[in-house]
Amino acid sequence: MESPYLPIESPSISRRQLLNFITGAVLAVPTGAALYVVGKFFIPPAEKTGAGGAIIAKDILGNPIPATQILAEAPGSRALVAGVSGEPTYLIVKEDNTLDSIGILDNCTHLGCSFPWNPMDQQFQCPCHGSRYAPDGTVVRGPAPLPLKIFHVAVVDNNILISPWTETDPRTGETPWWV
Ligand code: FES
Repeated sequence: MESPYLPIESPSISRRQLLNFITGAVLAVPTGAALYVVGKFFIPPAEKTGAGGAIIAKDILGNPIPATQILAEAPGSRALVAGVSGEPTYLIVKEDNTLDSIGILDNCTHLGCSFPWNPMDQQFQCPCHGSRYAPDGTVVRGPAPLPLKIFHVAVVDNNILISPWTETDPRTGETPWWV
């Protein structure tokens, strides 16, 4: 479907994905340009935080995104939402149609570019200098020097709560580099 709202480099985005972008979450698509551009639209809003610094995931308009909206997507989907401090954060729909308890920041650890999820390669692939990350955010190929920042994700009363990750990084067994 062709749309005046998306770069022509993104012919594979579906009508449903476009609807999600307009109404709320941004679904990951195989091509990089769309999400790179989309990610730049997130503007950190003033945000009240709950216990542990938790906030409710929001769309690009600042509206809370119901968990059911994300979970309506196919298993394995990645959805981009505004998380802690409005930072673009990937949520992961697991194979059992629940949300993964870990969210991943859409911010390359090389020089901070946004990047898309490539479902064919099962990687986050940065369009700026070619860094690639595994599904859990660990570096597969540089120049990115560090794993992607992660967050806690929980669903409470159909709200998606995102909170800072300050304890041991389960991928490295060490204190997170961002703490
Ligand atoms: Fe991602 Fe350089 S900013 S590889």
